[in-house]
Amino acid sequence: MTADRPPLAEGVPDRLYGRRRGHPLRPRQERLLSLALPRIRLTAAEAAQAPALFQGAKDLWLEAGFGGGEHTLALRAAHPGIALIASEVFENGLCSLLTRLVPEGEEATAPVPERLRLWPEDARHLLGLLPADALGRLYLMFPDPWPKARHAKRRFVQPATLPAVARALRPGAEWRIASDDPTYQAWVEEVLLSGQRFFTLASEARGARPEGWFATRYEAKAIREGRTPRYWTFRRTDAPA
Ligand SMILES: C[S@@+](CC[C@H](N)C(=O)[O-])C[C@H]1O[C@@H](n2cnc3c(N)ncnc32)[C@H](O)[C@@H]1O
Repeated sequence: MTADRPPLAEGVPDRLYGRRRGHPLRPRQERLLSLALPRIRLTAAEAAQAPALFQGAKDLWLEAGFGGGEHTLALRAAHPGIALIASEVFENGLCSLLTRLVPEGEEATAPVPERLRLWPEDARHLLGLLPADALGRLYLMFPDPWPKARHAKRRFVQPATLPAVARALRPGAEWRIASDDPTYQAWVEEVLLSGQRFFTLASEARGARPEGWFATRYEAKAIREGRTPRYWTFRRTDAPA
């Protein structure tokens, strides 16, 4: 364990099974990761001070697994007063968002975007570093489904992880989840609603994306390939974590 890797709940494998690297990085991408990312990334020490770190922000939200970052940018544009932490472990995804945040040639000098920090590590560790009740919203958009039963422990949504998610969200806060995978869809409801301890279902939609939600690259792929996305808003209960 290191400072930015607090232990995960018992039984949750402390490793990521998805890809960290894809295509070889181009020079601009190398510069974004080596020069821009260290300035924009949230440190473990800063995570422990959030949300006070974002002075003047109306609230603090977290997006876990932002992929190419389109959804993160849409959220920022629609909610300029909200501070956002955006987490992704896939280097090409990080580069994709950074490309749109940092002008070419200014990787070492561009100002850090207001009210946005990146967490280029496992978002589950970040949950353990944030103070209790830090977040007003958590977005989990089209998480890797790991549909085989023997891989269920790899899913982000996990009975053993619920207390950590619940601790970071304040009572009344929202956990928004979208998925196009039928196994994961059933799993989300089974895990989130079975004990009724931490979350209640505030709203649910299938097919058409609800008002106020934003498109993602995986959503577009799912629809192109004939799958039906589902979208849930769960609300953190007042129950003690
Ligand atoms: C299926 S993709 C969806 C990407 C994006 N949300 C979208 O809808 O287009 C899931 C993403 O989550 C990332 N991811 C998986 N586990 C993660 C974790 N524990 N912390 C942060 N990112 C994670 C993966 O690298 C991958 O890019």
